[in-house]
Amino acid sequence: MTVQYNRIFNMTLLFGLVALASCAKKPFDAPKKLGGEWVSAKKLNLGWETYNNYCMQCHGVLGDGLGPAAQGMVPAPRNFKSGLFKFGTVSLGELPTDENLAHIIRQGLNGTPMLPWDISDERLDAVVQYIKTFSPKWQTEKAGTSLEWTDDPWGPQLASQAIEQGRKIYHGLAQCYTCHPSYASTPEISAYSKEVTGQGVDSIRENPHLSVIQGSSYGHSYMPPDLTRHHLRSARTRPEIYRRLVLGVNGTTMPAWRGMLSVTGDKVEDEKNLWALAYYVESLQKLKWDWKTRAEFMNALEEKRGTASSAATNSSSQQP
Ligand code: HEC
Ligand code: HEC
Repeated sequence: MTVQYNRIFNMTLLFGLVALASCAKKPFDAPKKLGGEWVSAKKLNLGWETYNNYCMQCHGVLGDGLGPAAQGMVPAPRNFKSGLFKFGTVSLGELPTDENLAHIIRQGLNGTPMLPWDISDERLDAVVQYIKTFSPKWQTEKAGTSLEWTDDPWGPQLASQAIEQGRKIYHGLAQCYTCHPSYASTPEISAYSKEVTGQGVDSIRENPHLSVIQGSSYGHSYMPPDLTRHHLRSARTRPEIYRRLVLGVNGTTMPAWRGMLSVTGDKVEDEKNLWALAYYVESLQKLKWDWKTRAEFMNALEEKRGTASSAATNSSSQQP
């Protein structure tokens, strides 16, 4: 009995020691070149530890986005092996900068399980470097350069004109409603289109109060947000909305809009329309916090469209 007890005790102790030793064994013993910069083994080991404590549950031990908590998660956690990121401030297709990644980790992504992480600056930098080790892209490519921004040409005096211009551009020129919901009736859309492009439209797609689900390079589909009810993941303020419209959402069908919003190709007009859209999107986002006004807005829209169903209630099952 005692002998057996001792053996069990010794075995447990042995396993315990082995487990401890493997925990203590850090995975990096040499620096690595990531995005063209050398990163020390010490930093990568700190990143590894930070990642396993805070990020692994969702993003997975292997960085493949298949952590134990990821099952059924919408949107799915990012697979870092793909080296694809949605919310940098670089051109579509380029790798995000360290500042971009740090910003996303610190701010989180609104309305998703990706929360803001209040970790020390040292750990933040280390985990940014560590997630790069999952994708071979960082061994051969460098991060892109942040795009440049213009200042808001409208300002508070012209805010309501900016919103009105944004509404025209959204429906009449950019046709954002091919993916996102439309927030105007077909005759209104036709009038906007005629004003901006010289051409009216006869009809628009079915169920214009709903978003149209979109494929992506991430292996998942994404629902373009209904701008009156869903969070914008990367944007809270008007300048952030403007920047996201300039940038697009990498790896999804959400285009980068710079250069597309002037019929004549005029750069100043293009920027003015980008900012007008930001004002308009911001005005739609305000309805998110005001259910009563939103319901009135949607019901009035349905009446104009002449459809019986109420978009105020029946789009509630849609989640991006
Ligand atoms: C509770 C689950 C969860 C945890 C924990 C989590 N994330 Fe995420 N993360 C997500 C989801 C979900 C997304 C995808 C959001 C999307 O596609 O819009 C994401 C996306 C990201 C992105 C990609 C952003 C982009 O532009 O594409 C980065 C980088 C990231 N997470 C880093 C981290 C780091 C670092 C940690 C730990 C400090 C962490 N995450 C912890 C769920 C999580
Ligand atoms: C071809 C389809 C398509 C078109 C056209 C389109 N979008 Fe999007 N948009 C998307 C998708 C898909 C997403 C969601 C990406 C995701 O899940 O992160 C998105 C996301 C967004 C977001 C949220 C960004 C964030 O940080 O979460 C805004 C704002 C937006 N779109 C505005 C617009 C505006 C304004 C237009 C017209 C100028 C437009 N979109 C046209 C597909 C489209």
